[in-house]
Amino acid sequence: MNLQATDNIYLPKLAILDRVQDEIAEVKTFYWHFEEPEEQRRFKQFRPGQFAQVSLFGIGEFPLSLPPSPTEAETFFTARQVGSCTAGLHALRPGDKFAVRGPYGNGFPMEDYYGKNLVFVAGGIGLIPLRSCIIYALRHRDKYRKIQIFYGAKRQSELMYRPDLAEWEGSAGVECHLTVDRADPTWKGNVGVVGSLFKKPGVEVPVEHTVAFVCGPPIMFRFVIKDLLAMGLPETAIVSTLERYMKCGVGKCGHCCIGVAYVCVDGPVFTYEQIKKLGEDI
Ligand SMILES: Cc1cc2nc3c(=O)[nH]c(=O)nc-3n(C[C@H](O)[C@H](O)[C@H](O)COP(=O)(O)OP(=O)(O)OC[C@H]3O[C@@H](n4cnc5c(N)ncnc54)[C@H](O)[C@@H]3O)c2cc1C
Ligand code: FES
Repeated sequence: MNLQATDNIYLPKLAILDRVQDEIAEVKTFYWHFEEPEEQRRFKQFRPGQFAQVSLFGIGEFPLSLPPSPTEAETFFTARQVGSCTAGLHALRPGDKFAVRGPYGNGFPMEDYYGKNLVFVAGGIGLIPLRSCIIYALRHRDKYRKIQIFYGAKRQSELMYRPDLAEWEGSAGVECHLTVDRADPTWKGNVGVVGSLFKKPGVEVPVEHTVAFVCGPPIMFRFVIKDLLAMGLPETAIVSTLERYMKCGVGKCGHCCIGVAYVCVDGPVFTYEQIKKLGEDI
């Protein structure tokens, strides 16, 4: 067998940082492109909900979701600085090189949801993986019924992707409801947890032909799931993403195992029914 270096599934490809956008405290969005245009074209066929393994030379490799939709021109990551890898990413400047391999994971099967109502429920940086699905759904608006976004953060300054939120709030094709746990003096919107938005006058979450995407901190996840189940949504109609420590990202090392599932290849997208069967009732 004549193996080429390019056959190595662990070989990351060189990427160049274009620009950095501040999102909220400790969270930035990094716009980048592959050095090789052919690699850029291949990578751009990712699905909403997939992730990539990001390498920083001399520091390490770690997984990040893909917040852009494949329908958008630019490629970018949004990362919260928590430890050495994410600090290394935050220290990069435009023109600096790093490396990326992927896309990996199953992603959200957006085509399977054609003809359905889409209900997006996000808390804090849980909007990162859902942004891709929302943009994808809005670019294919005629394929879906009602589209609703429910997004909450601790306070106004922690709402992510502000230009997108402004666009969604002003768009006729989507209902966008925002909330904060604690209001600043300038906040004119809803105050309360994300689930409080379901009870707002005029808000009606359809139960039939509906898929609910839920991403956020565990406490928010638990309460939102309770609300959605109480409304009558089946466990199979609720989808989310699981996060696990990953090494290979391609189902070889076993680092991301939960029960019988490898989060890197069987996930990170799972239905709530699957999450419960895996014993991960978050
Ligand atoms: C599929 C997937 C997609 C992800 N997408 C994003 C994203 O889009 N944006 C983003 O900011 N982060 C994302 N993460 C989390 C990100 O990978 C970790 O924050 C990162 O690996 C931390 O590396 P570090 O060296 O900076 O921190 P470390 O020094 O490794 O860890 C610092 C702290 O973060 C915690 N931590 C580290 N990794 C994880 C993890 N995987 N899950 C939960 N807690 C962790 C550690 O317990 C520790 O408390 C994703 C994780 C997965 C598995
Ligand atoms: S990260 Fe290696 S098997 Fe999933």
